[in-house]
Amino acid sequence: MRKNKVKISVSITDFDFFDLSKQLIQIEKAEIDMLHLDIMDGNYVPNISIGPHVVKSIRRKSKLFFDVHLMVKKPETMLVPFIDSGADLITVHAETSPHLHRTLSEIKKAGLKAGIALNPSTPLSYIENVLDLSDLILLMTVNPGFGGQKFIPSMLNKIRKLKSMIDNHAQAQDKYKAIEIQVDGGINEETAPLVLGAGASVLVMGSAVSNSGDIHGYISKIKKNFT
Ligand code: DX5
Ligand code: ZN
Repeated sequence: MRKNKVKISVSITDFDFFDLSKQLIQIEKAEIDMLHLDIMDGNYVPNISIGPHVVKSIRRKSKLFFDVHLMVKKPETMLVPFIDSGADLITVHAETSPHLHRTLSEIKKAGLKAGIALNPSTPLSYIENVLDLSDLILLMTVNPGFGGQKFIPSMLNKIRKLKSMIDNHAQAQDKYKAIEIQVDGGINEETAPLVLGAGASVLVMGSAVSNSGDIHGYISKIKKNFT
């Protein structure tokens, strides 16, 4: 089975928004694969972050691939504003979308990549009937809502199971489709090799980057060691 190239998606959630443009310049210089934009509604998760207006403002200044992670109730009502704000990938939580097939179809119809996120407690069976519509599966490796939390080690087995589910799916279809396995929460120099060994292909990194004191240097080190 072919392997996906390891990608890095930097989450700006814990960055200092007063200085965001300076930090973005450093992130852009480090040539990451994606910019991870966490959208929290204070309802599905106990925190509030940014909305489409902020995403649109960043879009005007950035050419990065925008990886929008919707942690909101009723994500289907928020698709158009985020499509219009310049997202390249929209990921919705399976737990929030009873008509997941329709939601993913709408994202794909708009020409974007579509992702499904699963909380640590959500079983993989939630996604098995919609793998054909998915470009990426986001496994939460912490409970969503905040940056800076500790990686949940039992998620390693879930990553392995997902990897084999995706490989079996590709074999059954007799075609290789590069469905990415993204991991989000508590990813740093210690946990990156573990999740990559289990089968992850996209590392979301937030506080590890923002707390490093040297955004460009830290990302370069991660890229050199793990990609
Ligand atoms: C958590 C968010 C994450 C978060 C990651 O709900 O979805 O993207 O910003 O931050 P770290 O890397 O600090 O866990
Ligand atoms: Zn996220």
